[in-house]
Order: sequence, then structure tokens, then C-alpha cells
Amino acid sequence: MKKKELKLLENVNTVAISCRQWGDTGKGKFVDIFAEWADIIVRGTGGDNAGHTVVFNGQELVTHLVPSGILRKGKTNIIGNGTVVYPKALVEEIIKLEEKGIDCHNLKLAHNAKIILPTEILLDRLKEVSAGSGKIGSTGKGIGPTYTDFVGREGLIVNDLLNPTFFREKFKRHLKYKLAILKTYDSELIKTILDHEHLESGFYFDSENYLNFEAVCEKYLAYGEKLKSYICDTDSFVRSNLGERKILLEGAQGDMLSIDHGSYPFVTSSDCTVAGLAKGAGLRESDIDLSLGIIKGFYMTRVGAGPFPTELGGEQSDSWCNGGKINKAMEKALYHSTPKIDGGDEFLEGVVLRIAGNEYGATTGRPRRTGWLDLPLLRYTLGFNSPDLILTKLDVLNDCDVIKVCNHYKYTGENCVYAGQKILSGKYLETAVPQSEIMKFCKPIYVKFPGWKCDLKDCRDYGDLPEELKHILEFITKETKARPRIISVGADREETIFL
Ligand code: IMP
Repeated sequence: MKKKELKLLENVNTVAISCRQWGDTGKGKFVDIFAEWADIIVRGTGGDNAGHTVVFNGQELVTHLVPSGILRKGKTNIIGNGTVVYPKALVEEIIKLEEKGIDCHNLKLAHNAKIILPTEILLDRLKEVSAGSGKIGSTGKGIGPTYTDFVGREGLIVNDLLNPTFFREKFKRHLKYKLAILKTYDSELIKTILDHEHLESGFYFDSENYLNFEAVCEKYLAYGEKLKSYICDTDSFVRSNLGERKILLEGAQGDMLSIDHGSYPFVTSSDCTVAGLAKGAGLRESDIDLSLGIIKGFYMTRVGAGPFPTELGGEQSDSWCNGGKINKAMEKALYHSTPKIDGGDEFLEGVVLRIAGNEYGATTGRPRRTGWLDLPLLRYTLGFNSPDLILTKLDVLNDCDVIKVCNHYKYTGENCVYAGQKILSGKYLETAVPQSEIMKFCKPIYVKFPGWKCDLKDCRDYGDLPEELKHILEFITKETKARPRIISVGADREETIFL
């Protein structure tokens, strides 16, 4: 590592990297950089709903559940207790990585991580299909029902995969509860969902009981055999190495998607804040020496449904991105000749930003909704975090004539109460309120800045950055008390400025 990188890591043994927005902020690049320094890399929350894109030997690679540190030889990579694991997806991910020449022997899987059952994927998809306008935009990977079942004491854990008797007993009990719910749905719809390749192409379907008990036991116990060499007590392992070896905690999703602190109910079902990440890795938040939050440089994205005050093109963009019809190739073909962002048609600007930033889901391929940087939201997430920030993807805005930053909201909904305080219609808000019903009526008030209109890829020091960019950065720092520590000006590792 270079001198400046090492300076940031002076007297530091445990680092966490997590997102202060709605995810997809380019953690992969930084997890990879810090993984060079770390001995142990741990994922603590979420499941294969996450997707981290990293470049390995010139090829783009997406990891879902396995920490991106796996790309660095000889490091221990851990899937921690707070994660939810779909055995099929994990086995396939390991095979894919090994086919690319990546050694997975140093991977460890927590014996007490939760396993995703076919019932949970089925229920996730049934709920979304029948939700109408109440859709969350779930990735359909069974994340919500699995965490729900765990809390409701109806779930199974990774260790059960190694004990056929435990597995069969617990799964029988689980299925008994679920059968009553499944019976309320159309069996044809269930059959169609179970026909999906992700659900073993119909192998689990049973015309009488919807899910065939023996078929699930057969597959899961076979996956257990394949995963057994990775399964161990990762909590004890991580704790025994605390302060002795360098540990990197790799976040998934983002603070605004946290079940506890996000824009509920449009969230995922884990606590993807640093507190949740630490717990899911077997640690406490206070064990972390350096907690770095990632945001995109002066813009943001959101996948799925839910309020997004600064969304470019508002509802038009929301239904365009969530309509299920648009993908990257179609959008590029439709808009390849669209001009740059110049303060004109907002919807089109959102499309241009999406294409420029390649903002399409790594897991689902869905177009991400795009919008300007939202400081009320950043003030909110910084309120329960350290001020240290990494700003990514600044090069995406190189061509913009105008860059807008939302500094306040105007609340336009009906008078309401939040945490004992009255919020009257027409009131200006400086800090976001994580309640969807309120957030959806928050209209952004922007401060406009001229764009820098030049290439950033050769900038290596703060002094190399264009004045226009520094001006925006200083504004954000002053307004939110954030402390930018790293700025990313391109996908390449070299295209990084340590402050
Ligand atoms: P679930 O996690 O699949 O239940 O999805 C719940 C919400 O979180 C949906 O709006 C998803 O689009 C969103 N979500 C889940 N994982 C990610 C992610 O890795 N990046 C961004 N959004 C995500």
C-alpha cells in the first residue's frame, strides 16, 4: 500500500466499510483496496440480494455472498452469523470463482448464519406478485421471509445442513406452519414460481403439499455435504483475532435500506448499518477502529420501490425503472445519442446519469433510479455514524454543465407528528426523517453549481482536482460536518485520492 493509504490505517486493526445511502455506491473497489491490507474479510449482513462488482485480471466479476476479499490470495474470507445463505447460490458462486482460478479454501461460513429455504423464496415472490402497488421491489431471493422466520423462531441455520435429523425435524415443523399460508395462494401460481431455475426448476413442487418435503431434504443435505469444509464457528474465530490481525468488515446494501434505520418499509430485512454489520460479523461496533461510509460523488441511486426525494424525473423515472420492462441494452439503444446533463429535461438527465454511471443492478440487472446528492439524508445517516467518508464515481459527472445538491427539503404532505414534533405542511427540513409516508412528500431544494467539465482520471491529489469540484466538496463538508477521506475518480485502483 502507498504512504497516504497507510497513514489512514495508522494504529488501526479493524476497519468497516459501509454505505450511507441506498446501496450500490461502489464498495467493491474499496473492499478490494483494503483487502490488500487486511488478513480477514467478513460479510456480516444480507444474502445473495447483494452484488459487488470488482475487476479481477481485467475481467469484471460479481460476488454476491462471498466477500470480495476472496480475490486476494491467502486472505481469510468469512460469511458471518448475520447473513442469510441460500445453499444453492453459495455452492454455485464458489464453483464460478474456482473456475476463474480463484482459490476458495480460505472461505469460512458461520455455523449460525441463517439458511434460506425454498419456502422463503416462494413466499417472497408470492408476496411481491400479490402486493400490487404495495411492492417493495424485493430481489425475490427470500431475504425478508428468512429473517422473519428467524425472528419468529421458525427458521433453520447453516449447522442444520450437517445434521440430517435436526434438519428434517426443524424443516417439518417449518413446513407445517407455512402450509397454512401457502394454501391461501393459487397452486398454479406456486407451481409457476417453483418452476424457476433458481428454485431447482420444479423439483420441489408437490401438487398436494406445494413443497415436497423429501425433495428439499435431499437437495439441502447434499448442499451441506458440499459446504461442510467451510462451516465453522466464525464468531469465535473473528473475536480471537481482534487486535491481533487486521480485520475488514464489508457492508452490504446501505444505511437507508436498514430494517432499523432505513426508509421502512422500503428496506431490506437486515440491519445494514455499521452496528448490524459488526454484530453479524461476531463483533461489537466499539471494536471497529475506523468506520468508512461510502457515498456516490454528488449523485445517488435507488433500486426497487420507496421514496427518493431527489430522483431525476420523479414518478416518471420510478415507473420507468420499476416497470420490469427496461434493461441496460434497451436503454442504451434508445438513448445513446442523448446529450449531457444541462439542467433541461429531468427524466432524460436521469437516464443519461444511469448510462454514464452504468447504474444497473449487479444482481437483478434492473435500472437503478438516479438523482442528485441529498444532504438532508446524509445528515441523517451521519447522525449515527462516524463522519469519515469515501466519495466514489465522481468521474461520472465529468460532462455535466450543472450539478445540483439538495440542501433542504420542503415538506408538502399533510400536517403530521414525527417523534413528538409537529411537521406542518410547507415546513423546511434540514435532516431527513426515515419515515416513508413523510419522505415521499419531501421536495428537494437545490443549490446549483457549475460542473468541472474535464477529465479527472489523472488527478492523484486534492490539489489536482478542478476548483469547481473542490467548491462542491467544501460546501458538503461545511453543511454536513462530513470528513471526506478518500475520493474515487475512476474504476481503476490508481484513480483514487487519499486525503
Ligand atoms: P430484498 O433485500 O430482496 O428483500 O429487497 C428489499 C429492498 O432492498 C428492495 O427495494 C431492493 O431493491 C433493495 N435491495 C436489496 N439488496 C440491494 C442491494 O444490494 N443494492 C440496492 N438495493 C438492494
